[in-house]
Amino acid sequence: MPIHSKLGLGGHTFIAELGNDPLATFEEQCEIVRTCLNESIHLIDTTYYQERAALGQIFTAIGRREEARVMAWNFFKEPGKENELVPFTPFESAHIRQMLEELQTDSIDILVIHAHDDSVKLKQELSLAKQWMSEGKVKKVGLGMAQLKHLQLLPDDHPVTHVLAPYNAFRLEAAEMFTYARDYGMTTIALSPFIRGWKLDELGEQKSMAADLLLRWVTQQPLIDHVIVSMRAKDWIHANLQAAGRGPLNEKERTIIDNWTARIG
Ligand SMILES: NC(=O)c1ccc[n+]([C@@H]2O[C@H](COP(=O)([O-])OP(=O)(O)OC[C@H]3O[C@@H](n4cnc5c(N)ncnc54)[C@H](OP(=O)(O)O)[C@@H]3O)[C@@H](O)[C@H]2O)c1
Repeated sequence: MPIHSKLGLGGHTFIAELGNDPLATFEEQCEIVRTCLNESIHLIDTTYYQERAALGQIFTAIGRREEARVMAWNFFKEPGKENELVPFTPFESAHIRQMLEELQTDSIDILVIHAHDDSVKLKQELSLAKQWMSEGKVKKVGLGMAQLKHLQLLPDDHPVTHVLAPYNAFRLEAAEMFTYARDYGMTTIALSPFIRGWKLDELGEQKSMAADLLLRWVTQQPLIDHVIVSMRAKDWIHANLQAAGRGPLNEKERTIIDNWTARIG
């Protein structure tokens, strides 16, 4: 697979809460999704319900839903907290309808179950996901914020084919889980190459150079199949595609990253 096709678009692109920059206008969001699809970025992640609703509206406006592979996590709209980013809720039967309505689609390409330690509840969620697969509402199932212990406790007949976790030069814990997942033939998806946009500011370097090095740090790893990054500006799509295509870090660039992680952690 060409390295640049490892990139996926993060749904935080469509919300204001987790970014520095002002929210992209609806027109800009449509243009960001169009540009991604034109540039072979087909994987689009949605975490919070607000992101699903935004993506649903975007696809209604631009068409092209069938060109994308949409991922959707179990974070739901809660009464009285419609404008907040609320924690995840384990999947229940009614959730799939809600998600499909928000996304304005017939099926979710990768349904992401947020991992947790209640193995009985997790088993129920995996069964529900299998049922939704049999009904054609879900195509694949992923485990999000997965840790090694969660994979080791999966039942024999589990449907999980994708694992997702934050993984970047500052946050390495997921490496062991990704290695294990790979051994079992799963697809590995690294989230948040920059931790957040404001981490790039904290480094005190030229932002574009910092983004380039941190993105290459993760995209160049054979262990990683996809990297999800949010891009609130269309220019960043091209910058990030170019960075991903630029090739492995040299020794000097590795030392720069080592100095950042030693300084900021
Ligand atoms: N981290 C988690 O725990 C987690 C959990 C579930 C899902 N995810 C998924 O992972 C995706 C990515 O996570 P994230 O948004 O937290 O972190 P990220 O992708 O590492 O950071 C994105 C931010 O980096 C900045 N940026 C991107 N490209 C840039 C460039 N070329 N030059 C300069 N700045 C650039 C922007 O910052 P500003 O807009 O702030 O300036 C952008 O919002 C999310 O959208 C979501 O789909 C993450």
